[in-house]
Amino acid sequence: MKILLVAGARPNFMKIAPLMAAFGERPAISPVLVHTGQHYDRVMSDLFFRELGIPEPDMNLGVGSASHAVQTAEIMRAFEPVVVAEKPDAVLVVGDVNSTIACGLVAVKMGAKLIHVEAGLRSFDRSMPEEINRLLTDAISDLLFCSELSGVENLRREGVPEKKIHFVGNVMIDTLLTNREKAERSGVLATLGVDEGRSYAVVTLHRPSNVDDPAMMGPIMVALDEIGREMPVIFPVHPRTRAMLENGVRSSNSAFCTQEAGRKPGGQGGRKAAASGLILLDPLGYLDFLKLMAHARVVLTDSGGIQEETTILGTPCLTLRDNTERPVTVEMGTNRLVGSDPERILAAWREVMADAGCQKPVQPPLWDGRAAQRIADILIAELQR
Ligand code: UD1
Repeated sequence: MKILLVAGARPNFMKIAPLMAAFGERPAISPVLVHTGQHYDRVMSDLFFRELGIPEPDMNLGVGSASHAVQTAEIMRAFEPVVVAEKPDAVLVVGDVNSTIACGLVAVKMGAKLIHVEAGLRSFDRSMPEEINRLLTDAISDLLFCSELSGVENLRREGVPEKKIHFVGNVMIDTLLTNREKAERSGVLATLGVDEGRSYAVVTLHRPSNVDDPAMMGPIMVALDEIGREMPVIFPVHPRTRAMLENGVRSSNSAFCTQEAGRKPGGQGGRKAAASGLILLDPLGYLDFLKLMAHARVVLTDSGGIQEETTILGTPCLTLRDNTERPVTVEMGTNRLVGSDPERILAAWREVMADAGCQKPVQPPLWDGRAAQRIADILIAELQR
């Protein structure tokens, strides 16, 4: 059974890694890995393949960045000949990025079965590009694998036949559990001059709704600046966000550090920089970032995956959005939606700081490190029918 697996953007790579490993253990499955090239920088792509032990992609479509229409169209144009040449039994897509819907559309129109991993998640916010990608991909998929029960309920409500839906757990958490010990050996904390005593905050921001508009990004930076007066705030900056910061939305208390040594350009050590203040870094690799999250006092983010990872790590997460497609993280108590108003962000941060016992690792149902194994077993049973 030949399955083409599609990986395009950074959050896809942690989901593909355990699937490639599980498929590799089953002679019945012959996996072919296609990288669309949606993300292409060393720190947004190559580093993840190396750290997570993902085999070199069998092909890279090299599409790169562009507007939504152009990027989606380019991925479709480049993927169609691959499906023609490879004649896969099925195409497997993960998550909710443009590569997911683009390759999904090509696959079903060419008669391949479409498998969606991380199906059913809904923010119910159609201004999010990812929500459109999720709705459309699920509508055309033959097999839908859900990471949490809300996904199963959403798909049922949308009329997806029961036999297509499988609740299997979370492949991103498979990767976290596999790499937890390895990440502990990362020297990133020492490099940045912080310690394991939950004394610092970590920030990531990349949602267009937060970072593309200075009127949104500016007030968020004011809140981060305020937090940075009391504790180091470590902020690995997504390329999209960097463009905005370089265009002037900067906090007064921030210091740009280079990633490699956590050093300020010019050779100063990271230690002084980390006493307090906002420390802006290039994007980090998977292992360094996992270690940073695991020992942080609090994580502030607008990412989807980080809401899930902090749940398993027991690190309090403040999500700078008004909604989440991953409600189990809120139900479990590790994640809170705080929007992007600086007063609300600061009030929530103060509450986390006042609650010394709020670090409690919790495990949502089936987030046990075996999701990819379940998917592989179900695929063999379903596709060989
Ligand atoms: C994409 C996904 C988003 C995911 C995010 C993770 C869509 C619609 N969005 O958003 O769901 O959470 O990836 O990062 O698919 N860039 C680089 N180097 C790279 C990649 C991007 O510099 O390797 C810059 C480019 O300027 C590009 C911008 O980042 O224009 C945005 O990249 P793009 O892939 O369009 O979307 P993301 O914002 O990364």
